[in-house]
Amino acid sequence: MSRKGKQNRSHAAAKADAPEWDVKVSRRGFVKASLAAGVIVGGSVLALDSKDGRQALQIAQTTQTATTTDPFAPQAITLNVNGVDYPVTVEPRDMLVNVIRDSIGLIGTKRPCNRMECGGCTVLIDDAPYNACQYIALRAVGKQILTTEAGVQSTASGAPAADPVVAALQSAFVENDGGQCGFCSPGEIMSAAALLKQNPNPTVDEIKAAQAGNLCRCGNYLKIIESIQTAATNLGGA
Ligand code: FES
Ligand code: FES
Repeated sequence: MSRKGKQNRSHAAAKADAPEWDVKVSRRGFVKASLAAGVIVGGSVLALDSKDGRQALQIAQTTQTATTTDPFAPQAITLNVNGVDYPVTVEPRDMLVNVIRDSIGLIGTKRPCNRMECGGCTVLIDDAPYNACQYIALRAVGKQILTTEAGVQSTASGAPAADPVVAALQSAFVENDGGQCGFCSPGEIMSAAALLKQNPNPTVDEIKAAQAGNLCRCGNYLKIIESIQTAATNLGGA
């Protein structure tokens, strides 16, 4: 079956499964009627007639499913961060950055803007970079989360760092003055880690593209690029 045929069939099936609505009104009539009514209540019958009798709106929704569980209730979950399982209780609205910082206590991940503008909260989820301030914590269940602590968490015991790429980037940032105030550094390093894991030998343009979502208020971009190049070299890239 052609792709279009599949689409038509699934559309028809979806239509067949849809709740029975009887709508007899133009779009303009619907807007007018809605404004006049002020509110439309799901599961009820609403009938409005315009003065000239040309427009009528009838909405009949025959079924309404009762909710037996509270969708806003806190849930007990386990998040794997840097190879360690952390049991936490989260609300469905909780963002990952808040859980990582406030519940788990790993405060290396920053929260500078909290609205997906700066990249300071970047973490890796299954090796892909995400802004943790806009990532629902519940979505991270069953995934591997990596934060900037992955580069240092095991070195105190003499064991190798949990993530050698993150560790190499942290050393290179120190070596090249990649951080001035350092506020952006965890996010810059995690975005760079995602890049080097996928592309061990990036060009300058590829580094710029990978870091495009990370803002440095100190304007330390040249040193950041140099740091990433140094890390790539130390990890075996050119
Ligand atoms: S804190 Fe998430 S993008 Fe700025
Ligand atoms: S080093 Fe200060 S914000 Fe980047």
